[in-house]
Amino acid sequence: MSDSDSPQSPLWPLEDDDVRDALLAAYADGSWGKYHGPHVPRLEAELAQYFGVPHAFSCASGTIAVEIALRALNLPEGAEVLLAAYDFAGNFRAIQAAGLRPALVDIEPNCWRIDVSQLEAAVTPETKAVLVSHLHGDLADMPAVMEIAQRHQLQVVEDACQSPGAVIGGRKAGTWGDVGTLSFGGSKLLTAGRGGAIVTSRPDVFQRAKVFCERGNHAFPLSELQAAVLLPQLEKLDARNQRRAAAVARLRDATKNSTAWNSPPPCDDSPVYYKVGWYLADPAAREATCARLQSAGVAIDAGFRGFAKRPDSWCRKLGQLPEARRAAEATITLHHPVLLADEAELARAVEVVREVAGG
Ligand SMILES: Cc1ncc(COP(=O)(O)O)c(C=O)c1O
Repeated sequence: MSDSDSPQSPLWPLEDDDVRDALLAAYADGSWGKYHGPHVPRLEAELAQYFGVPHAFSCASGTIAVEIALRALNLPEGAEVLLAAYDFAGNFRAIQAAGLRPALVDIEPNCWRIDVSQLEAAVTPETKAVLVSHLHGDLADMPAVMEIAQRHQLQVVEDACQSPGAVIGGRKAGTWGDVGTLSFGGSKLLTAGRGGAIVTSRPDVFQRAKVFCERGNHAFPLSELQAAVLLPQLEKLDARNQRRAAAVARLRDATKNSTAWNSPPPCDDSPVYYKVGWYLADPAAREATCARLQSAGVAIDAGFRGFAKRPDSWCRKLGQLPEARRAAEATITLHHPVLLADEAELARAVEVVREVAGG
């Protein structure tokens, strides 16, 4: 499913007095209707500070952020970019749109991260970059990715669209790679309905991103109004991420004895939950399982389709990609709004999940 097909939740976006005040203030000072105002530069400065990098650059969506990031790396025309064979569909397309060629690597079993043990074998003289995503509350092994990337002089795009605020080895997800990407889409943890950004420590990458986007005017802009509503949400991100993680611990506990639902192995780092993923032992049961949960008011649906079945003429594939195929058939993901719901709503969702999972 594409992001904008994510289940519409009555619980999202959150009612938030600070967002309402930001909207009213943007109305009062007229910044809502201006090309340029204080909110976009302030948001970019606060994103850079939050991520601990010198540069953040906002744009119209996470999808275009990934393409801008790839273009800003200045890769040779037609160069190969490694990516997991299970990822957001727009990432495959972003590689093509940037005039590059996807090369697919499998993921690790029972989670959704690129399998770094296969990364090195996938590198050819044409390979110039890796695109790595953190998905469904799982985190890619960035120290290992960076070590291999450095050895083979590959540049790295780190997609943190699903994981703003996650921490890997003491460092924010999105800041390990040469450039990181964020989404502010309508279902995302920081939402402006639409929007995105890149974050980077490299001045040349920042500069190239700007040049690509500026065509007399900004071609893929975030508006003043969008930036205005994101600012108060950024301040609350860490506290909300902590509450979401506590709710996920209860959900994982509810499924820990299930033989039908499998959680990924626990992770030492601090993931962030936009979607909470499980693997179903019986993929054939997925449609009925999701339907049962949805009819009980719990927003769970199938994960991504993945790319393993894409034609060989579109991409190079490292092996048969069995784990990505399994992820595409067996993944279910719970949509995050319930994680911040009141106790009664959350407890009810936990019990529904326990009952359906047979935990
Ligand atoms: C991993 C990942 N990357 C990129 C995007 C694209 O973000 P947007 O919907 O803002 O275009 C998404 C959206 O769900 C995503 O999950």
